[in-house]
Amino acid sequence: MDAVEVRNAETFFASAPPLRDRDAIVAKVEEFVQRRLPTASGNRASRMVCITSGGTTVPLERKCVRFIDNFSSGHRGAASTECFMKAGYSVIFINRRGTAQPFCRFLPEDPLLTCFEPAGDNLIQLIPSHAVAVQKAVTEYHSALNSGHLLNLPYTTLFEYLEILKIVSLSLRQLQRNCMFYLAAAVSDFYVPWQSMVEHKIQSGVGPMAMELAQVPKMLMLLRHLWAPEAFCVSFKLETDVKILIKKAQAAREKYGMHAVVANELETRKQKVIVVTNEGQVLVEKDASQADVEIPLVDFLIAQQTSYIEAGGANVLVV
Ligand code: PMT
Repeated sequence: MDAVEVRNAETFFASAPPLRDRDAIVAKVEEFVQRRLPTASGNRASRMVCITSGGTTVPLERKCVRFIDNFSSGHRGAASTECFMKAGYSVIFINRRGTAQPFCRFLPEDPLLTCFEPAGDNLIQLIPSHAVAVQKAVTEYHSALNSGHLLNLPYTTLFEYLEILKIVSLSLRQLQRNCMFYLAAAVSDFYVPWQSMVEHKIQSGVGPMAMELAQVPKMLMLLRHLWAPEAFCVSFKLETDVKILIKKAQAAREKYGMHAVVANELETRKQKVIVVTNEGQVLVEKDASQADVEIPLVDFLIAQQTSYIEAGGANVLVV
């Protein structure tokens, strides 16, 4: 592992603002993971996936009024969570606050105001045309949470995202090859370091503003080689120019040692993706009977992980 990458990451974490509720998050993750470890009585470890979803924000002021955002609706992460759970995986869902949530993806944008109406005397009622969708979403979401197989960890900023990803990785490594990282979040490449960030709202009226952004250290390398070296790692590559997409995905796979890189183009990302592995590339498309491309994508990646586990010869679990 490149010592410079490690140093850059250490500097990033040392200078990041303290993560709110850090101890509670660590305890929650550890408790969630412990329940899936193999027991002395011989129970096998169950498979777990950490799914990251949504885009990170980069604050420009400590008392943040303005920020830079990264595009992602969270649809990919939410749909994939449903697919992995259906396949028997436990899911740690690291998601940007306010983006799409599993089992609720098909509700209207503002479900509270769209699905309910006043019914007089301090009562509200579910509008009948939305009743089936709301009932399905609420039932499925709560049964996933209550099953103990879904842990929802929200973030907003880049700092929160990377701190939480590190906490989860260091805990999940105990599951060795039975854990997967599915990194669909769109993560900022540039940021304002906390120590050089102004405290208060940046004032206007002083003419054009120049701001220098520092490069965010790529955490994929650390995750893969230091934090959870045996985990099956999948990253994503989004481009708008298809001509460079595959090259960039191949380069990311080689540079960061990913087991698979999912290449997607902005316009067609909901219909098809290309998965780049060390064996080449595979086009994964949804067919007419499938609601989401995540259905064949998750199937494909689970099969890849099964081969990876079998090649390692430890703790094989068929799902
Ligand atoms: O949410 P949707 O609207 O459904 O859209 C899904 C998606 C298009 C956002 C998703 O499919 C996708 O492609 N996500 C990755 C977008 C992207 O190209 O991100 P990136 O170039 O910032 O990062 C590439 C990979 O490196 C990602 O897996 C990211 O998690 C990781 N990364 C990035 C920066 C950084 N400093 N550290 C990282 O680990």
